[in-house]
Amino acid sequence: MQANKLKQLYLDFYKNKNHQIVPSSSIVPENDPTTLFTGSGMQPMMEYFLGVPHPKGSRIVDIQKCFRSQDIEEIGDNRHITFFEMLGNWSFGDYFKNEQLEWLFDFLVNKINLDPKKLFVTVFSGNIKLNIDKDLDSVEIWKKLFSKVGIEAIDIDHSQINGMQAGRIFYFDEKYNWWSRAGVPDNMPAGEPGGPDSEVFYDFGADKKIHENSLFKNQVCHVNCDCGRFLEICNSVFMQYRKQNDGGFIELSQRNVDFGGGFERILAAINDVNDVFMTSIFKDIIEYLEMISNKKYSESEKNKRSFRVVADHLRAAVMLAADGVYPSNKEQGYFSRRLVRRSVRYAKMIGINDLFIKDLVPLIIGLYQDFYPDLLSKSNEIQNVLSQEEKKFAQTIQKGLKEIEKHSVLNGEIAFKLYETHGFPFELTKEIAQEKGQTVSLESFQKAQKAHADLSRSSSSQKFKGGLQDSSVETTRYHTATHLLHAALRKILGKHVEQKGSNITANRLRFDFSHPKALTKEEIIEVENQINAWITESLTVSVKYMKKSEALKSGAIAFFVEKYPEDVTVYTIGNGTDTSWVSRELCGGPHVENTSQIGHIQIFKEQAISNGIRRIYLR
Ligand code: SER
Repeated sequence: MQANKLKQLYLDFYKNKNHQIVPSSSIVPENDPTTLFTGSGMQPMMEYFLGVPHPKGSRIVDIQKCFRSQDIEEIGDNRHITFFEMLGNWSFGDYFKNEQLEWLFDFLVNKINLDPKKLFVTVFSGNIKLNIDKDLDSVEIWKKLFSKVGIEAIDIDHSQINGMQAGRIFYFDEKYNWWSRAGVPDNMPAGEPGGPDSEVFYDFGADKKIHENSLFKNQVCHVNCDCGRFLEICNSVFMQYRKQNDGGFIELSQRNVDFGGGFERILAAINDVNDVFMTSIFKDIIEYLEMISNKKYSESEKNKRSFRVVADHLRAAVMLAADGVYPSNKEQGYFSRRLVRRSVRYAKMIGINDLFIKDLVPLIIGLYQDFYPDLLSKSNEIQNVLSQEEKKFAQTIQKGLKEIEKHSVLNGEIAFKLYETHGFPFELTKEIAQEKGQTVSLESFQKAQKAHADLSRSSSSQKFKGGLQDSSVETTRYHTATHLLHAALRKILGKHVEQKGSNITANRLRFDFSHPKALTKEEIIEVENQINAWITESLTVSVKYMKKSEALKSGAIAFFVEKYPEDVTVYTIGNGTDTSWVSRELCGGPHVENTSQIGHIQIFKEQAISNGIRRIYLR
């Protein structure tokens, strides 16, 4: 099925159910400073869940352009993409579970002819602590729907992961079957709406299992195992609750439905091919890349990965540019720059060494111009900005290559110097070394990077000794105290506390954070005592260089995650094993080496600075 046909079928289906069609919002959110990109269809709809009437009524259908920058490094498998479109139907206090699931099933089985035997669903298993029930309503509806097509849908509790067990409906906890902008209930700030959801998976067949990538590689395959056999194609969220200050949930004044269908994934299911890059929305791009590279996409897994990165990244860069995001060093533009540069690098891996972006842009625009007619008028401009970025990066690479020629043996130090002075990517040095029959390991690169950081750290402490920069010693102490304060607030007040800003002088630390109400005297004392306890414990402050995804996986916190580069510096405060730390944050430093160097601290002021944001002064 052609891409545009699927879009039209979906919009028409819901139009017939009295939905109003609305156009996609921009990928750059309007009036939402909490995020750089629209990453799901529901983001532009937030206020309508809370009771503000939508100008077009209580039933809406749309197709939203989305971009998930956190997926950049995931690209390369059969299903992750950074730019995607999300089919969305919305009930703002109108219909609920019955209609939603019934219509969805009808659409999937009768309109786009998916084989119901290949569909599997998950539902929320409930949470006693939060007083939210197991979603038995949805189970009953799914059972009825499947039985109408002659399938007995057995429901299975999946807390004991043990394969499919002939089940059709699986219960999962809030890690899988709960949706809010902030993720699981624990991470939601007070006031945030969320709710249980029910996902639909398409089964491409047991032979499509690619277990190496599975999160559960040592267990029996099941819908959420990520092994390549099953693909989540859509999600119905029953947006029904709102988090309270005490961490509990109350019902919203209206019950809403937020349905999101992964357009490219549904297309893959319709074509019964477990690779979104083989669907009509990517096929032309892949074929064009095959032509100019003289390589075949399916030749090897390595080739596939490179083709997928180039195709994904350029398609995303074009769609971002269409919404005004051009390559730069700042905010959204930084991601556009990364997309273009990464696509150039991966294009090289399949032998594309000439400039190629200018010719590829019109092809991508051609795929979307019927649906987004404004693309056509922007075509020249998009071509120019993206190919300029490609040329700039080509120069960086030229300079780096010249430098490389001067060395007969490459090592981590040279790789780091190239990266430092020319922005020459480590992966490229690594590949060039490989071509020469040499190896440059990531560890050796990181070692050089660390040596460099240590050097600048000790040269600044040299300066401190001179006396002139005494205040810098103070600011370094406060810098580490900032992390302790942040950790103490999160420990004592809750995980909704997020740093919103800070300011350090030689005499004090000022710290802004989210929290709905004034701290009590007792809370202030508790926070203060906690920090002083950590200081007295003489905890080690250690620094590590990691990939951002690795850092986040290891539990590091970071606000405006998207703003950090791929390689990050992570500061951990704590002694003992790797899991028993007090604080772990993405941060540029510098910090003291041991908390004992901070000395006794005291909180001397606490006040509100705006709605939901508090300010603390500490010295
Ligand atoms: N908000 C849900 C999601 O993005 C459904 O639209 O998956």
